[in-house]
Amino acid sequence: MKKSALLAILVLVLAVSTGVLGYLYSTKTVTAPEAVVSPSLAIGDYTDKWAASAHANSASEAFRHWDDSEDGTVPASCAQCHASTGFKDYVGLDGSEALVVDQPAKIGTVVDCSVCHNDYAESNPTVVFPSGLEVASDAGVASCWTCHQGTEGGINGSLDEKIGTTAPDDKGESLAFVNPHYLSVGAMYLGSEANGGYQYEGKTYAGRFEHAEGVQTCTQCHDPHTLHLADPGYAKCQTCHSEVTTYPDQRKVRRTKSDYDGDGDVAESTYDEINGLTEQLLTAMIAYSENIGGTPIGFSENYPYWFADNDGIQDEGEKSYADWTPRLMRAAFNYKFVTRSSGYIHNPTYSAQLLIDSIEDLAAGDSNITLASYVRP
Ligand code: HEC
Ligand code: HEC
Ligand code: HEC
Ligand code: HEC
Ligand code: HEC
Repeated sequence: MKKSALLAILVLVLAVSTGVLGYLYSTKTVTAPEAVVSPSLAIGDYTDKWAASAHANSASEAFRHWDDSEDGTVPASCAQCHASTGFKDYVGLDGSEALVVDQPAKIGTVVDCSVCHNDYAESNPTVVFPSGLEVASDAGVASCWTCHQGTEGGINGSLDEKIGTTAPDDKGESLAFVNPHYLSVGAMYLGSEANGGYQYEGKTYAGRFEHAEGVQTCTQCHDPHTLHLADPGYAKCQTCHSEVTTYPDQRKVRRTKSDYDGDGDVAESTYDEINGLTEQLLTAMIAYSENIGGTPIGFSENYPYWFADNDGIQDEGEKSYADWTPRLMRAAFNYKFVTRSSGYIHNPTYSAQLLIDSIEDLAAGDSNITLASYVRP
Protein backbone atom coordinates (compact mmCIF):
# COMPACT_ATOMS: atom_id res chain seq x y z
CA MET A 1 0.00 0.00 0.00
CA LYS A 2 1.21 3.50 -0.70
CA LYS A 3 2.66 5.25 2.30
CA SER A 4 0.25 8.15 1.95
CA ALA A 5 -2.77 5.86 1.79
CA LEU A 6 -1.64 3.98 4.87
CA LEU A 7 -1.05 7.17 6.75
CA ALA A 8 -4.39 8.56 5.66
CA ILE A 9 -6.10 5.55 7.19
CA LEU A 10 -4.08 5.77 10.39
CA VAL A 11 -4.87 9.44 10.64
CA LEU A 12 -8.57 8.77 10.15
CA VAL A 13 -8.65 6.06 12.78
CA LEU A 14 -6.96 8.34 15.22
CA ALA A 15 -9.21 11.21 14.32
CA VAL A 16 -12.26 9.15 15.21
CA SER A 17 -10.79 8.07 18.52
CA THR A 18 -9.78 11.56 19.56
CA GLY A 19 -12.79 13.38 18.22
CA VAL A 20 -10.96 15.57 15.72
CA LEU A 21 -13.00 14.10 12.91
CA GLY A 22 -14.87 17.38 12.67
CA TYR A 23 -11.74 18.92 11.21
CA LEU A 24 -11.16 16.26 8.66
CA TYR A 25 -12.54 16.41 5.22
CA SER A 26 -12.56 13.71 2.66
CA THR A 27 -14.27 13.26 -0.68
CA LYS A 28 -14.25 9.49 -0.21
CA THR A 29 -15.58 7.44 2.65
CA VAL A 30 -12.79 5.41 4.12
CA THR A 31 -13.62 2.49 6.36
CA ALA A 32 -10.70 2.00 8.65
CA PRO A 33 -9.62 -1.59 9.26
CA GLU A 34 -9.58 -2.59 12.93
CA ALA A 35 -6.08 -3.98 12.68
CA VAL A 36 -4.29 -0.64 12.46
CA VAL A 37 -5.81 0.73 15.65
CA SER A 38 -3.62 -1.01 18.20
CA PRO A 39 -0.08 -0.01 17.25
CA SER A 40 -1.05 3.61 16.69
CA LEU A 41 0.30 4.89 19.99
CA ALA A 42 2.95 6.88 18.18
CA ILE A 43 0.30 8.61 16.12
CA GLY A 44 -1.24 9.90 19.32
CA ASP A 45 2.03 11.70 19.96
CA TYR A 46 1.81 13.41 16.60
CA THR A 47 -1.75 14.44 17.33
CA ASP A 48 -0.88 15.83 20.76
CA LYS A 49 1.94 17.86 19.30
CA TRP A 50 -0.25 19.18 16.53
CA ALA A 51 -3.18 19.91 18.88
CA ALA A 52 -1.01 22.27 20.93
CA SER A 53 0.31 24.12 17.88
CA ALA A 54 -0.78 27.32 16.17
CA HIS A 55 -2.10 25.28 13.24
CA ALA A 56 -4.71 23.68 15.50
CA ASN A 57 -5.58 26.84 17.40
CA SER A 58 -9.22 27.17 16.40
CA ALA A 59 -9.55 30.28 18.59
CA SER A 60 -6.95 32.32 16.73
CA GLU A 61 -7.75 35.30 14.56
CA ALA A 62 -6.35 33.44 11.57
CA PHE A 63 -9.31 31.03 11.75
CA ARG A 64 -11.99 33.23 13.40
CA HIS A 65 -11.67 36.35 11.31
CA TRP A 66 -14.78 35.42 9.28
CA ASP A 67 -17.03 34.42 12.21
CA ASP A 68 -19.34 37.36 11.66
CA SER A 69 -19.59 37.00 7.90
CA GLU A 70 -23.17 36.81 6.68
CA ASP A 71 -22.98 33.40 5.04
CA GLY A 72 -20.57 31.79 7.52
CA THR A 73 -17.82 31.28 4.97
CA VAL A 74 -14.20 32.17 4.35
CA PRO A 75 -14.08 33.93 0.94
CA ALA A 76 -12.39 32.07 -1.90
CA SER A 77 -9.56 34.65 -1.95
CA CYS A 78 -8.62 33.75 1.64
CA ALA A 79 -9.62 30.08 1.91
CA GLN A 80 -6.41 28.72 0.33
CA CYS A 81 -4.60 29.30 3.63
CA HIS A 82 -7.32 29.88 6.21
CA ALA A 83 -9.40 26.70 5.81
CA SER A 84 -8.36 23.10 5.30
CA THR A 85 -11.14 22.63 2.75
CA GLY A 86 -10.01 25.77 0.92
CA PHE A 87 -6.44 24.46 0.76
CA LYS A 88 -7.59 21.18 -0.76
CA ASP A 89 -9.77 23.07 -3.21
CA TYR A 90 -6.75 25.19 -4.21
CA VAL A 91 -4.46 22.23 -4.90
CA GLY A 92 -7.23 20.29 -6.64
CA LEU A 93 -7.57 17.49 -4.08
CA ASP A 94 -11.35 17.92 -4.13
CA GLY A 95 -11.39 17.09 -7.82
CA SER A 96 -11.69 20.72 -8.91
CA GLU A 97 -9.24 22.69 -11.04
CA ALA A 98 -5.86 23.22 -9.34
CA LEU A 99 -4.29 26.58 -8.43
CA VAL A 100 -7.62 28.27 -7.94
CA VAL A 101 -10.13 28.23 -5.09
CA ASP A 102 -13.50 27.60 -6.73
CA GLN A 103 -15.78 28.40 -3.84
CA PRO A 104 -15.85 29.91 -0.36
CA ALA A 105 -15.06 27.49 2.48
CA LYS A 106 -17.22 26.88 5.54
CA ILE A 107 -15.73 28.48 8.63
CA GLY A 108 -14.58 26.24 11.48
CA THR A 109 -11.63 24.39 9.98
CA VAL A 110 -7.94 24.76 10.90
CA VAL A 111 -4.69 23.45 9.34
CA ASP A 112 -5.52 19.80 9.99
CA CYS A 113 -3.73 16.50 9.27
CA SER A 114 -5.37 16.13 5.87
CA VAL A 115 -3.83 19.38 4.61
CA CYS A 116 -0.32 17.91 4.72
CA HIS A 117 -0.93 14.18 4.47
CA ASN A 118 -2.20 13.57 0.98
CA ASP A 119 -1.04 12.74 -2.53
CA TYR A 120 -0.46 16.35 -3.43
CA ALA A 121 2.04 16.92 -0.62
CA GLU A 122 3.75 13.59 -1.24
CA SER A 123 4.35 14.37 -4.90
CA ASN A 124 6.63 17.33 -4.09
CA PRO A 125 4.94 19.51 -6.69
CA THR A 126 5.92 22.85 -8.10
CA VAL A 127 4.55 25.74 -6.04
CA VAL A 128 3.35 28.96 -7.66
CA PHE A 129 4.13 32.20 -5.80
CA PRO A 130 2.19 35.50 -5.90
CA SER A 131 4.80 36.90 -8.30
CA GLY A 132 3.75 34.19 -10.75
CA LEU A 133 7.11 32.42 -10.44
CA GLU A 134 7.07 28.64 -9.96
CA VAL A 135 9.57 26.75 -7.87
CA ALA A 136 9.98 22.97 -7.50
CA SER A 137 9.47 22.30 -3.81
CA ASP A 138 12.02 20.92 -1.37
CA ALA A 139 11.08 17.42 -0.17
CA GLY A 140 7.97 17.39 2.02
CA VAL A 141 7.40 21.13 2.28
CA ALA A 142 5.11 22.00 -0.64
CA SER A 143 2.24 22.60 1.78
CA CYS A 144 4.36 25.00 3.87
CA TRP A 145 5.31 26.98 0.77
CA THR A 146 1.72 27.05 -0.46
CA CYS A 147 0.44 28.84 2.66
CA HIS A 148 3.54 30.68 3.86
CA GLN A 149 4.07 32.55 0.61
CA GLY A 150 2.26 35.86 1.15
CA THR A 151 -0.57 37.11 -0.99
CA GLU A 152 0.90 39.89 -3.11
CA GLY A 153 3.81 40.13 -5.52
CA GLY A 154 6.11 43.16 -5.58
CA ILE A 155 7.61 43.85 -8.96
CA ASN A 156 5.76 41.57 -11.45
CA GLY A 157 2.82 41.71 -9.11
CA SER A 158 0.01 43.72 -7.65
CA LEU A 159 2.32 46.40 -6.26
CA ASP A 160 3.72 47.41 -9.63
CA GLU A 161 0.26 47.09 -11.17
CA LYS A 162 -1.16 49.56 -8.68
CA ILE A 163 1.71 52.00 -9.23
CA GLY A 164 1.26 51.85 -12.99
CA THR A 165 2.84 54.88 -14.65
CA THR A 166 2.72 57.20 -11.61
CA ALA A 167 6.04 59.05 -11.26
CA PRO A 168 8.10 57.93 -8.21
CA ASP A 169 7.33 60.94 -6.01
CA ASP A 170 3.80 61.70 -7.17
CA LYS A 171 0.65 60.91 -5.28
CA GLY A 172 -2.23 59.28 -7.09
CA GLU A 173 -5.81 58.28 -6.39
CA SER A 174 -5.15 54.60 -6.95
CA LEU A 175 -2.10 54.42 -4.68
CA ALA A 176 -2.49 52.61 -1.37
CA PHE A 177 -0.54 50.31 0.91
CA VAL A 178 -0.06 46.84 -0.58
CA ASN A 179 0.36 44.34 2.24
CA PRO A 180 2.54 41.32 1.52
CA HIS A 181 0.51 39.57 4.29
CA TYR A 182 1.84 37.57 7.26
CA LEU A 183 4.55 35.00 7.73
CA SER A 184 5.55 34.89 4.05
CA VAL A 185 8.51 32.78 5.07
CA GLY A 186 8.53 30.47 2.04
CA ALA A 187 8.93 33.46 -0.26
CA MET A 188 11.56 35.00 2.01
CA TYR A 189 13.60 31.79 2.09
CA LEU A 190 13.60 31.53 -1.71
CA GLY A 191 14.63 35.16 -2.30
CA SER A 192 14.69 36.13 -5.97
CA GLU A 193 13.63 32.60 -6.97
CA ALA A 194 10.11 33.47 -5.72
CA ASN A 195 10.46 37.25 -5.95
CA GLY A 196 8.46 37.91 -2.80
CA GLY A 197 10.00 41.29 -2.01
CA TYR A 198 9.93 44.43 -4.11
CA GLN A 199 13.11 44.07 -6.17
CA TYR A 200 14.37 47.35 -7.61
CA GLU A 201 15.22 47.70 -11.27
CA GLY A 202 18.88 47.30 -12.13
CA LYS A 203 19.81 45.43 -8.92
CA THR A 204 20.54 41.77 -8.50
CA TYR A 205 19.13 39.71 -5.67
CA ALA A 206 20.10 36.57 -3.78
CA GLY A 207 18.17 33.37 -4.39
CA ARG A 208 17.38 30.86 -1.65
CA PHE A 209 19.33 31.05 1.59
CA GLU A 210 22.00 28.34 1.38
CA HIS A 211 22.38 27.81 5.10
CA ALA A 212 24.02 24.46 5.80
CA GLU A 213 23.34 20.76 5.38
CA GLY A 214 20.60 19.48 7.65
CA VAL A 215 19.10 22.93 8.36
CA GLN A 216 18.05 23.83 4.86
CA THR A 217 14.34 23.05 4.46
CA CYS A 218 11.38 24.15 6.61
CA THR A 219 10.96 20.78 8.29
CA GLN A 220 14.66 20.21 8.90
CA CYS A 221 14.34 23.10 11.35
CA HIS A 222 10.63 23.14 12.29
CA ASP A 223 8.82 20.12 13.62
CA PRO A 224 5.80 20.02 11.25
CA HIS A 225 3.48 19.24 14.18
CA THR A 226 4.64 21.41 17.10
CA LEU A 227 6.07 23.99 14.65
CA HIS A 228 8.86 24.60 17.15
CA LEU A 229 12.43 23.63 16.34
CA ALA A 230 12.47 19.96 15.43
CA ASP A 231 14.09 17.42 17.70
CA PRO A 232 16.93 17.72 18.80
CA GLY A 233 16.11 21.42 18.68
CA TYR A 234 18.85 23.82 19.63
CA ALA A 235 21.30 20.96 20.10
CA LYS A 236 21.32 20.71 16.32
CA CYS A 237 22.30 24.36 15.97
CA GLN A 238 25.06 23.99 18.53
CA THR A 239 27.10 21.71 16.34
CA CYS A 240 27.92 24.82 14.32
CA HIS A 241 26.87 27.74 16.57
CA SER A 242 28.10 27.16 20.12
CA GLU A 243 26.38 30.36 21.27
CA VAL A 244 22.93 28.92 20.59
CA THR A 245 21.47 26.94 23.50
CA THR A 246 17.88 28.11 23.88
CA TYR A 247 15.28 30.45 22.36
CA PRO A 248 16.01 33.19 21.29
CA ASP A 249 19.78 32.54 21.14
CA GLN A 250 19.62 32.22 17.35
CA ARG A 251 19.45 36.00 17.40
CA LYS A 252 23.08 36.06 18.68
CA VAL A 253 24.50 34.35 15.60
CA ARG A 254 26.82 36.33 13.38
CA ARG A 255 28.42 34.72 10.37
CA THR A 256 28.45 37.63 7.99
CA LYS A 257 31.66 39.65 7.85
CA SER A 258 29.89 42.73 6.50
CA ASP A 259 28.54 45.79 8.25
CA TYR A 260 25.15 45.68 6.49
CA ASP A 261 23.62 48.57 8.44
CA GLY A 262 26.74 50.76 8.28
CA ASP A 263 26.82 51.50 12.02
CA GLY A 264 30.53 50.61 12.34
CA ASP A 265 29.80 47.60 14.60
CA VAL A 266 31.04 44.41 12.95
CA ALA A 267 30.64 42.27 16.07
CA GLU A 268 26.86 42.60 16.53
CA SER A 269 24.64 39.69 15.51
CA THR A 270 23.04 39.31 12.10
CA TYR A 271 19.69 39.86 13.82
CA ASP A 272 20.97 43.29 14.96
CA GLU A 273 22.38 44.11 11.51
CA ILE A 274 18.95 43.49 9.95
CA ASN A 275 17.17 45.30 12.77
CA GLY A 276 19.52 48.24 12.31
CA LEU A 277 18.42 48.41 8.69
CA THR A 278 14.69 48.14 9.42
CA GLU A 279 15.01 50.97 11.95
CA GLN A 280 16.85 53.13 9.44
CA LEU A 281 14.26 52.33 6.78
CA LEU A 282 11.43 53.46 9.04
CA THR A 283 13.33 56.68 9.89
CA ALA A 284 13.88 57.31 6.17
CA MET A 285 10.18 56.68 5.42
CA ILE A 286 9.14 59.21 8.07
CA ALA A 287 11.58 61.84 6.76
CA TYR A 288 10.54 61.25 3.16
CA SER A 289 6.82 61.39 3.95
CA GLU A 290 7.28 64.73 5.72
CA ASN A 291 9.54 66.30 3.11
CA ILE A 292 7.95 64.98 -0.06
CA GLY A 293 4.39 63.91 0.74
CA GLY A 294 3.74 66.60 3.34
CA THR A 295 2.07 64.24 5.82
CA PRO A 296 4.32 62.28 8.20
CA ILE A 297 3.72 58.53 8.28
CA GLY A 298 3.63 56.37 11.41
CA PHE A 299 3.83 52.58 11.81
CA SER A 300 1.96 50.32 14.19
CA GLU A 301 1.96 46.52 14.47
CA ASN A 302 -1.82 46.54 14.16
CA TYR A 303 -4.12 47.14 11.24
CA PRO A 304 -4.05 49.47 9.26
CA TYR A 305 -0.30 49.48 10.13
CA TRP A 306 0.48 52.83 8.48
CA PHE A 307 -1.24 55.94 9.77
CA ALA A 308 -1.06 59.73 9.33
CA ASP A 309 0.97 60.72 12.35
CA ASN A 310 2.00 63.81 14.26
CA ASP A 311 4.00 62.47 17.20
CA GLY A 312 5.23 58.93 16.49
CA ILE A 313 2.38 57.32 18.44
CA GLN A 314 -0.91 56.16 16.99
CA ASP A 315 -3.53 58.29 18.73
CA GLU A 316 -7.26 57.79 18.51
CA GLY A 317 -8.65 59.25 15.32
CA GLU A 318 -5.35 59.14 13.43
CA LYS A 319 -6.36 57.79 10.09
CA SER A 320 -4.96 55.16 7.85
CA TYR A 321 -2.18 56.75 5.77
CA ALA A 322 -3.41 58.20 2.48
CA ASP A 323 -0.53 60.17 0.92
CA TRP A 324 1.29 57.32 -0.77
CA THR A 325 3.85 57.78 -3.53
CA PRO A 326 5.35 54.85 -5.44
CA ARG A 327 8.64 55.09 -3.51
CA LEU A 328 6.84 55.03 -0.18
CA MET A 329 4.71 52.05 -1.23
CA ARG A 330 7.73 49.99 -2.23
CA ALA A 331 9.50 50.78 1.02
CA ALA A 332 6.42 49.93 3.12
CA PHE A 333 6.01 46.63 1.27
CA ASN A 334 9.61 45.58 1.91
CA TYR A 335 9.49 46.76 5.51
CA LYS A 336 6.49 44.55 6.24
CA PHE A 337 7.85 41.64 4.24
CA VAL A 338 11.17 41.48 6.11
CA THR A 339 9.88 42.18 9.61
CA ARG A 340 6.98 39.71 9.42
CA SER A 341 8.97 36.81 7.94
CA SER A 342 11.87 36.71 10.42
CA GLY A 343 14.11 37.65 7.51
CA TYR A 344 17.28 37.53 9.57
CA ILE A 345 17.11 33.77 9.90
CA HIS A 346 15.22 32.68 6.77
CA ASN A 347 17.26 34.76 4.34
CA PRO A 348 19.58 37.42 5.82
CA THR A 349 21.19 38.28 2.47
CA TYR A 350 17.93 38.93 0.62
CA SER A 351 16.60 40.89 3.62
CA ALA A 352 19.65 43.18 3.72
CA GLN A 353 19.48 43.77 -0.03
CA LEU A 354 15.77 44.72 0.02
CA LEU A 355 16.17 47.04 3.01
CA ILE A 356 19.26 48.84 1.70
CA ASP A 357 17.70 49.32 -1.73
CA SER A 358 14.50 50.66 -0.17
CA ILE A 359 16.41 53.26 1.87
CA GLU A 360 18.48 54.30 -1.14
CA ASP A 361 15.38 54.60 -3.30
CA LEU A 362 13.76 56.95 -0.77
CA ALA A 363 16.98 59.00 -0.63
CA ALA A 364 16.91 59.33 -4.42
CA GLY A 365 13.63 61.20 -4.00
CA ASP A 366 14.57 63.18 -0.90
CA SER A 367 18.06 64.68 -0.72
CA ASN A 368 17.64 65.36 3.02
CA ILE A 369 17.97 61.67 3.82
CA THR A 370 21.55 60.85 4.78
CA LEU A 371 22.82 57.41 3.90
CA ALA A 372 25.12 55.41 6.18
CA SER A 373 27.93 53.36 4.60
CA TYR A 374 25.79 50.29 4.05
CA VAL A 375 27.54 47.18 2.89
CA ARG A 376 25.17 45.51 0.45
CA PRO A 377 25.80 41.77 0.39
C1 HEC B 1 -1.20 32.42 0.69
C2 HEC B 1 -1.79 32.19 1.97
C3 HEC B 1 -2.76 33.20 2.54
C4 HEC B 1 -3.83 33.79 1.92
C5 HEC B 1 -4.33 33.60 0.50
C6 HEC B 1 -4.44 34.64 2.92
N1 HEC B 1 -3.76 34.54 4.11
FE1 HEC B 1 -4.21 35.49 5.83
N2 HEC B 1 -2.63 34.60 6.78
C7 HEC B 1 -1.80 33.67 6.21
C8 HEC B 1 -0.87 33.18 7.21
C9 HEC B 1 0.23 32.15 6.99
C10 HEC B 1 -1.22 33.83 8.42
C11 HEC B 1 -0.59 33.63 9.78
C12 HEC B 1 -0.11 34.89 10.27
C13 HEC B 1 -0.04 35.10 11.72
O1 HEC B 1 -0.70 34.44 12.53
O2 HEC B 1 0.71 36.02 12.05
C14 HEC B 1 -2.33 34.72 8.10
C15 HEC B 1 -2.96 35.55 9.04
C16 HEC B 1 -4.09 36.27 8.79
C17 HEC B 1 -4.83 37.00 9.81
C18 HEC B 1 -4.50 37.04 11.29
C19 HEC B 1 -3.56 38.15 11.58
C20 HEC B 1 -3.26 38.27 13.05
O3 HEC B 1 -2.98 39.39 13.45
O4 HEC B 1 -3.28 37.26 13.76
C21 HEC B 1 -5.89 37.60 9.19
C22 HEC B 1 -6.96 38.47 9.84
C23 HEC B 1 -5.80 37.25 7.79
N3 HEC B 1 -4.71 36.44 7.58
C24 HEC B 1 -6.71 37.66 6.85
C25 HEC B 1 -6.71 37.23 5.53
C26 HEC B 1 -7.71 37.64 4.56
C27 HEC B 1 -8.87 38.57 4.85
C28 HEC B 1 -7.40 36.99 3.40
C29 HEC B 1 -8.14 37.06 2.07
C30 HEC B 1 -8.36 38.37 1.52
C31 HEC B 1 -6.19 36.21 3.64
N4 HEC B 1 -5.81 36.38 4.94
C32 HEC B 1 -5.57 35.43 2.69
C33 HEC B 1 -1.82 33.26 4.89
C34 HEC B 1 -2.73 33.67 3.93
C1 HEC C 1 1.61 21.35 8.44
C2 HEC C 1 1.71 20.02 7.88
C3 HEC C 1 1.35 18.83 8.74
C4 HEC C 1 0.23 18.67 9.52
C5 HEC C 1 -0.89 19.65 9.75
C6 HEC C 1 0.33 17.33 10.08
N1 HEC C 1 1.49 16.72 9.65
FE1 HEC C 1 2.12 14.84 10.13
N2 HEC C 1 3.84 15.15 9.10
C7 HEC C 1 4.11 16.25 8.32
C8 HEC C 1 5.40 16.08 7.70
C9 HEC C 1 6.08 17.08 6.76
C10 HEC C 1 5.89 14.83 8.11
C11 HEC C 1 7.21 14.15 7.75
C12 HEC C 1 8.20 14.52 8.82
C13 HEC C 1 9.63 14.21 8.49
O1 HEC C 1 9.91 13.76 7.39
O2 HEC C 1 10.43 14.44 9.40
C14 HEC C 1 4.88 14.25 9.00
C15 HEC C 1 4.98 13.00 9.61
C16 HEC C 1 3.94 12.38 10.27
C17 HEC C 1 3.96 11.01 10.74
C18 HEC C 1 5.12 10.05 10.61
C19 HEC C 1 4.97 9.18 9.42
C20 HEC C 1 5.60 9.74 8.21
O3 HEC C 1 4.99 9.68 7.12
O4 HEC C 1 6.74 10.26 8.30
C21 HEC C 1 2.75 10.77 11.30
C22 HEC C 1 2.29 9.46 11.91
C23 HEC C 1 1.97 11.98 11.21
N3 HEC C 1 2.72 12.94 10.59
C24 HEC C 1 0.68 12.14 11.68
C25 HEC C 1 -0.03 13.34 11.68
C26 HEC C 1 -1.33 13.53 12.32
C27 HEC C 1 -2.10 12.45 13.05
C28 HEC C 1 -1.67 14.83 12.12
C29 HEC C 1 -2.90 15.58 12.60
C30 HEC C 1 -3.22 15.41 14.02
C31 HEC C 1 -0.60 15.45 11.35
N4 HEC C 1 0.38 14.53 11.11
C32 HEC C 1 -0.62 16.77 10.93
C33 HEC C 1 3.31 17.36 8.15
C34 HEC C 1 2.12 17.61 8.82
C1 HEC D 1 -3.26 25.58 5.07
C2 HEC D 1 -2.25 26.60 5.29
C3 HEC D 1 -1.00 26.28 6.05
C4 HEC D 1 -0.09 25.25 5.81
C5 HEC D 1 -0.18 24.13 4.79
C6 HEC D 1 1.00 25.47 6.72
N1 HEC D 1 0.76 26.55 7.51
FE1 HEC D 1 1.90 27.22 9.03
N2 HEC D 1 0.47 28.55 9.57
C7 HEC D 1 -0.70 28.78 8.86
C8 HEC D 1 -1.52 29.74 9.58
C9 HEC D 1 -2.88 30.25 9.15
C10 HEC D 1 -0.78 30.07 10.75
C11 HEC D 1 -1.23 31.00 11.87
C12 HEC D 1 -2.05 30.17 12.82
C13 HEC D 1 -2.49 30.88 14.06
O1 HEC D 1 -2.34 32.10 14.16
O2 HEC D 1 -2.98 30.18 14.98
C14 HEC D 1 0.46 29.32 10.69
C15 HEC D 1 1.46 29.37 11.65
C16 HEC D 1 2.72 28.79 11.52
C17 HEC D 1 3.85 29.02 12.39
C18 HEC D 1 3.89 29.98 13.58
C19 HEC D 1 3.78 29.21 14.84
C20 HEC D 1 3.62 30.07 16.05
O3 HEC D 1 3.65 29.47 17.15
O4 HEC D 1 3.43 31.29 15.93
C21 HEC D 1 4.90 28.26 11.93
C22 HEC D 1 6.30 28.17 12.50
C23 HEC D 1 4.40 27.54 10.77
N3 HEC D 1 3.08 27.88 10.56
C24 HEC D 1 5.17 26.67 10.01
C25 HEC D 1 4.65 25.84 9.01
C26 HEC D 1 5.37 24.75 8.40
C27 HEC D 1 6.80 24.36 8.72
C28 HEC D 1 4.52 24.18 7.49
C29 HEC D 1 4.76 22.96 6.62
C30 HEC D 1 5.14 21.74 7.31
C31 HEC D 1 3.27 24.93 7.54
N4 HEC D 1 3.38 25.91 8.48
C32 HEC D 1 2.14 24.67 6.76
C33 HEC D 1 -1.06 28.20 7.67
C34 HEC D 1 -0.44 27.09 7.13
C1 HEC E 1 17.63 27.32 10.03
C2 HEC E 1 16.42 26.83 10.58
C3 HEC E 1 15.11 27.29 9.96
C4 HEC E 1 14.64 27.03 8.68
C5 HEC E 1 15.32 26.29 7.56
C6 HEC E 1 13.32 27.59 8.64
N1 HEC E 1 13.00 28.20 9.82
FE1 HEC E 1 11.30 29.18 10.25
N2 HEC E 1 12.10 29.83 12.02
C7 HEC E 1 13.29 29.38 12.56
C8 HEC E 1 13.51 30.02 13.85
C9 HEC E 1 14.68 29.78 14.78
C10 HEC E 1 12.40 30.89 14.06
C11 HEC E 1 12.15 31.84 15.23
C12 HEC E 1 12.69 33.20 14.87
C13 HEC E 1 12.57 34.21 15.97
O1 HEC E 1 11.60 34.17 16.73
O2 HEC E 1 13.45 35.08 16.06
C14 HEC E 1 11.53 30.72 12.89
C15 HEC E 1 10.30 31.36 12.72
C16 HEC E 1 9.34 30.98 11.77
C17 HEC E 1 7.98 31.47 11.71
C18 HEC E 1 7.36 32.47 12.65
C19 HEC E 1 7.77 33.84 12.21
C20 HEC E 1 7.30 34.96 13.08
O3 HEC E 1 7.80 36.07 12.81
O4 HEC E 1 6.49 34.76 14.00
C21 HEC E 1 7.37 30.85 10.63
C22 HEC E 1 5.96 31.01 10.16
C23 HEC E 1 8.37 30.00 10.02
N3 HEC E 1 9.55 30.10 10.73
C24 HEC E 1 8.14 29.20 8.92
C25 HEC E 1 9.15 28.59 8.17
C26 HEC E 1 8.97 28.03 6.85
C27 HEC E 1 7.65 27.98 6.11
C28 HEC E 1 10.18 27.57 6.45
C29 HEC E 1 10.56 26.97 5.11
C30 HEC E 1 10.42 27.86 3.97
C31 HEC E 1 11.13 27.86 7.53
N4 HEC E 1 10.46 28.47 8.54
C32 HEC E 1 12.47 27.52 7.53
C33 HEC E 1 14.16 28.49 11.97
C34 HEC E 1 14.08 28.04 10.67
C1 HEC F 1 26.18 22.44 9.75
C2 HEC F 1 26.45 23.71 10.37
C3 HEC F 1 25.26 24.57 10.78
C4 HEC F 1 24.17 24.20 11.52
C5 HEC F 1 23.80 22.83 12.06
C6 HEC F 1 23.40 25.41 11.74
N1 HEC F 1 24.00 26.46 11.13
FE1 HEC F 1 23.35 28.40 11.14
N2 HEC F 1 24.87 28.93 9.90
C7 HEC F 1 25.85 28.09 9.44
C8 HEC F 1 26.64 28.80 8.43
C9 HEC F 1 27.84 28.24 7.67
C10 HEC F 1 26.07 30.10 8.31
C11 HEC F 1 26.49 31.19 7.35
C12 HEC F 1 25.72 30.95 6.08
C13 HEC F 1 25.84 32.05 5.06
O1 HEC F 1 25.75 33.21 5.43
O2 HEC F 1 25.98 31.71 3.88
C14 HEC F 1 24.97 30.14 9.26
C15 HEC F 1 24.16 31.25 9.44
C16 HEC F 1 23.14 31.33 10.38
C17 HEC F 1 22.36 32.51 10.66
C18 HEC F 1 22.44 33.83 9.91
C19 HEC F 1 23.61 34.61 10.22
C20 HEC F 1 24.45 35.02 9.06
O3 HEC F 1 25.24 35.89 9.33
O4 HEC F 1 24.41 34.44 7.97
C21 HEC F 1 21.49 32.21 11.67
C22 HEC F 1 20.51 33.15 12.35
C23 HEC F 1 21.70 30.81 11.99
N3 HEC F 1 22.71 30.31 11.20
C24 HEC F 1 20.95 30.10 12.90
C25 HEC F 1 20.98 28.72 13.02
C26 HEC F 1 20.04 27.95 13.80
C27 HEC F 1 18.89 28.54 14.62
C28 HEC F 1 20.38 26.64 13.67
C29 HEC F 1 19.70 25.44 14.27
C30 HEC F 1 18.33 25.22 13.85
C31 HEC F 1 21.55 26.59 12.80
N4 HEC F 1 21.87 27.86 12.42
C32 HEC F 1 22.21 25.43 12.45
C33 HEC F 1 26.05 26.79 9.83
C34 HEC F 1 25.15 26.02 10.54
